[in-house]
Amino acid sequence: MYTAITDSTIKISIIGAAGGIGQSLTLLLKTQIHNLIPIGSNKVKKNHIHLALYDINSDAVNGVATDLSHIDTPVSLSSHSPNTENGIKDCLKDTDLIIISAGLPRKPGMTREDLFNKNASIISSLTDSIIEHCDLSKIFILVISNPVNSLVPVITKKFIKFDPTADVERRVMGVTKLDIVRASTFLHQFGINEGFEKRSSIMPSVPVIGGHSGETIIPLFSQSKIHPQLTNEQVDYLTKRVQCGGDEVVKAKNGQGSATLSMALAGYKVVAKFISLLSGQEDIIKAIFYISLLDHTKNEPICPGAKELMDTVDGLDFFSIPLTISAKGVHSIKYWIMDEMNDYEKDELLSACIPKLRENIKTGWDFIQD
Ligand code: NAI
Repeated sequence: MYTAITDSTIKISIIGAAGGIGQSLTLLLKTQIHNLIPIGSNKVKKNHIHLALYDINSDAVNGVATDLSHIDTPVSLSSHSPNTENGIKDCLKDTDLIIISAGLPRKPGMTREDLFNKNASIISSLTDSIIEHCDLSKIFILVISNPVNSLVPVITKKFIKFDPTADVERRVMGVTKLDIVRASTFLHQFGINEGFEKRSSIMPSVPVIGGHSGETIIPLFSQSKIHPQLTNEQVDYLTKRVQCGGDEVVKAKNGQGSATLSMALAGYKVVAKFISLLSGQEDIIKAIFYISLLDHTKNEPICPGAKELMDTVDGLDFFSIPLTISAKGVHSIKYWIMDEMNDYEKDELLSACIPKLRENIKTGWDFIQD
């Protein structure tokens, strides 16, 4: 299959590409992502995008890649599996951005934590492959697989154990964007249903911080422009709906998996941000990710703002928060968003999040032996 990697290529590796999220995400990337690179701009250093698809389901990933390769866009593709020559090596070699959606999704009655053992083993062995085949000084890794709260610590600890100087931990990011997409969607729908949303064509923006599981998800509705019109009961309803948004989909699919289409869109949105960084259009991008707040090797805050955030979250060393990212990784943290929380968000939501998230982080961290 056509593989053309040059100095002007942004290579994106999608691991788990034949799955529900992988297929929809790669369709969005193949059809849309090249539109984000303006033609003729002096700032653009890389203008070609290559998608390298990998999955252990060889036939499925080969089929998906062949199917996508007939779509008429300048985005190139390659397909890799344990059955192709060099397997995962060719998928990861020279890559800039790795998206991991490999692993089991939930079934009704399961929590994200129930996926931990199986998915932690998958992620751990994928990290070994990344260590073996990637340029650790530049790669970014986006973790979609669940439980995000624990898997990011798993990967982080593996990298630190392998090479403490590689500094990869500032470029490993858990994807919590779906919670943000849901908060915006539910608030918008709710506004229309309640009859007070007049700007129905404008989607409200709601930051969501904390983690990506149940009570660890903290939507900050107080920071949306519509908030003053909401009663406490309405905010409580919306908050719980975001925290349980994944359950709605798991229940509706009734054993056929969890969110895939909305997650693919959320994944597309975060990859789109990275394109402006990786193509050279922007030196710094803004986003919300679940990241390590601590440089665990030096035992010091990972970047400006991390210490202030850790002080507010009782010393947690992983958290999802608005931040800026440069080519070197996490650049600064918008810690002052914590000071802007109202009493409900601070006393109820953050208080419930901290012990749960601490437990999730410990589960991941302890999975890799010291
Ligand atoms: P899926 O079962 O449809 O796809 C998973 C894919 O991973 C399969 O094609 C499978 O063959 C592949 N796979 C398994 N082990 C692998 C390995 N070692 N290397 C490469 N590929 C491997 O699952 P789906 O729905 O795509 O979900 C994937 C993950 O994303 C799940 O863990 C799910 O819980 C999580 N998820 C995360 C969300 C988030 O907001 N971060 C939202 C929704 C799901």
